[in-house]
Amino acid sequence: MSKHTVTVTDNTSGKSVEFPVKEGTHGPGAIDIKSVYKEFGYFTYDPGFTSTASCRSDITFIDGDEGVLLYRGYPIEQLAEHSTFLEVSHLLLYGELPTADELDAFTASITKHTMVNESLKDFFDGFHYNAHPMAMLTAVVSSLSAFYHDSIDINDPESRELCAHRIIAKMPTIAGAAFKHFVGEPFVYPKNRLSYSGNLLNMLFSRPTEDYEINPVAEKALDQLLILHADHEQNASTSTVRLAGSTGTNPFAAIASGCAALWGPAHGGANEAVLRMLEEIGDVRNVAHYIDKAKDKDDPFRLMGFGHRVYKNYDPRATIIRKTCHEVLHAMNMADDPQLELAIKLEEIALQDDYFVERKLYPNVDFYSGLIYKALGIPTQFFTVMFALGRTPGWIAQWAEMTEDGEQRIGRPRQIYTGAARRDYVPVVKR
Ligand code: SDX
Repeated sequence: MSKHTVTVTDNTSGKSVEFPVKEGTHGPGAIDIKSVYKEFGYFTYDPGFTSTASCRSDITFIDGDEGVLLYRGYPIEQLAEHSTFLEVSHLLLYGELPTADELDAFTASITKHTMVNESLKDFFDGFHYNAHPMAMLTAVVSSLSAFYHDSIDINDPESRELCAHRIIAKMPTIAGAAFKHFVGEPFVYPKNRLSYSGNLLNMLFSRPTEDYEINPVAEKALDQLLILHADHEQNASTSTVRLAGSTGTNPFAAIASGCAALWGPAHGGANEAVLRMLEEIGDVRNVAHYIDKAKDKDDPFRLMGFGHRVYKNYDPRATIIRKTCHEVLHAMNMADDPQLELAIKLEEIALQDDYFVERKLYPNVDFYSGLIYKALGIPTQFFTVMFALGRTPGWIAQWAEMTEDGEQRIGRPRQIYTGAARRDYVPVVKR
């Protein structure tokens, strides 16, 4: 138990209580305030949870001031350069980089679970062709618990592991099916001989009419993007997965709640919003006008892909994605993409503007990722689906950690009540 304590004094009653500080291995510790209501009769108040640690976790560490991101201690820059998405998924789930045999066994298990129950295909026919893909993904992921009863016993470690492998394996197949429904083409089944990202590209873009050649540049770029999105501490969608999971609901339902939360434009929906913003700005000549709009408190317009709750420095993922963006667009002879030029100009002007500098608003993971997805032929509406695919191992690893954490209980925050005092019912004839 840490000797470090923090004393809280109620200057009305004069009561003082020492609260223990829980220290981690890196970064800030947390004042353990579990007993503050019992001691003082007050709740703590922290809308948006800017100063609240909801759990202890071994999975991901972020230093927002230094722009550091570690998955199980490994720097994101090294994993993005040397690892693969399945290897990173193993790392997030099991805490260690796998040996060659462990990676082979993990890959074989994921490969075995890539198909979805054939009845699931009928779900897509219920959607209009132009249904938003995140609506389809969220609905179909939620329905998985209707098919895979043998992996929803949250108290059985083997069941939890089977569910983790199933959800990582099936997300690309569901995304591929949603895409084929969206474009009105026949579904493409997974192929076991392909890599995880190669399989995804094949399920998205192959057609019965011709052979589909997987572009290695696209395959590598996609795999790196999935790595970069794989986990990110207690972000909104991960916190949603944990809160849903804390009720004991099945893991598929918890992950579906994460999909729903990720969809918001302030979160994972930002990658789609960035492209729409670039489309709206249209030309470099309009950048100054839109920067002014972003700074105008009376204007709801925000510079999408900019700013972050934790990073008050460059998002290390954005640095990597910007480099990959240049490489992919160059490899695909799209280096002169006007939207890339626009994005670069927008970033340049924003980072010279006091408003952004004072508020430490830098490009985040979503600023450049959409330009790569677009270059790979993925439509804007599918960008957040790609984010969800990447985040799945993080979600399920965080869910499993929460489930195994003896300190975790059902999440049930309190409030400051500001409504009407008690009053008696008045019949309508007397109102
Ligand atoms: C992700 O949490 C995670 O880890 C998320 C994520 C992950 O991997 O899971 O990293 C993924 O969600 C990245 C963020 C994607 N969202 C966007 O790009 C949307 C645009 N960004 C903003 O909406 C905003 O920056 C947030 C939501 C990301 C962060 O919001 P905060 O922490 O609540 O910050 P804030 O709204 O309090 O902003 C602080 C100030 C405010 O101005 P003042 O009131 O101090 O004058 O900065 C301003 C804001 O108005 N501001 C912006 C801005 N972001 C913040 N002004 C213009 N454009 C912006 N993008």
